[in-house]
Amino acid sequence: MELPNSYWDKLALRYPRYTDESIQHDARFIFGVARYFGVDFEDKTILDIGCGTGTLAIPLAKEALKITAIDLSKSMLEIFEYDKTTLLLDEKIDIFHSSWDDFEIKERFDISLASMTPAVSSQEQFNKFINSTSDFGIFVGWGEYKNNDIVDDLLTLHNGTKNKTFGQAKRFATHLSTQNISHNLEYFESSWSDDYSYDDALEYVISHLIRFDIVPNKELVKEVLLEKMQDNKITFTTKAQKGVVAFRV
Ligand SMILES: C[S@@+](CC[C@H](N)C(=O)[O-])C[C@H]1O[C@@H](n2cnc3c(N)ncnc32)[C@H](O)[C@@H]1O
Repeated sequence: MELPNSYWDKLALRYPRYTDESIQHDARFIFGVARYFGVDFEDKTILDIGCGTGTLAIPLAKEALKITAIDLSKSMLEIFEYDKTTLLLDEKIDIFHSSWDDFEIKERFDISLASMTPAVSSQEQFNKFINSTSDFGIFVGWGEYKNNDIVDDLLTLHNGTKNKTFGQAKRFATHLSTQNISHNLEYFESSWSDDYSYDDALEYVISHLIRFDIVPNKELVKEVLLEKMQDNKITFTTKAQKGVVAFRV
């Protein structure tokens, strides 16, 4: 299911920035896998597709020659622009408000990166991504599971199962195999917690249950959320497997 732009604009309000601890943990692992595969970021041109708030572009900017970052969501990019200017990185990072499909590649990049973004999910988008680099690429996607304590409890109470497919990292690695492109896939666990107000928690849970094709029992959802509420907030903890694929064209 393609998520609408408004979804990402809303998520931008709570999406982590480069300073977030969980994001820093992920970034260390991702860059570690890439370096082990032979990627050297020093003085390189880098394309970051679906860059969000600049979670990966900002830490890479110190080493890179130039980063071209694109994203569909204006709200994500406003946060990125603010941090970029505050950190005096205007010369290093060019930001474009564009979807991946609409983005025109004028010159190939030394390294292309797509992390946790549905921008690169179809076969055509995979191929455009692979063709955007003259040397290395890094893809980060869901691994085999994503567990959220409260959503999972409610799923069980609705006798539901997770019918949503994860495994994007594996799908991309398989695509590379079919094209005989040398690559390496490594998995890691990422975990994060988010505080929601009661109303936002209700909206969050209902939207997730609907995405799992469940008709939510609103009374049951409200009861569970009220039980979980402490100091006027509800904390959701997610543990998910992510996969990093480093490749060389
Ligand atoms: C989960 S965030 C990932 C942000 C960042 N890459 C990271 O790893 O933290 C997904 C981002 O992809 C962007 N996005 C979604 N669909 C897109 C598309 N078709 N073209 C460009 N960006 C897209 C969203 O706006 C959002 O900022």
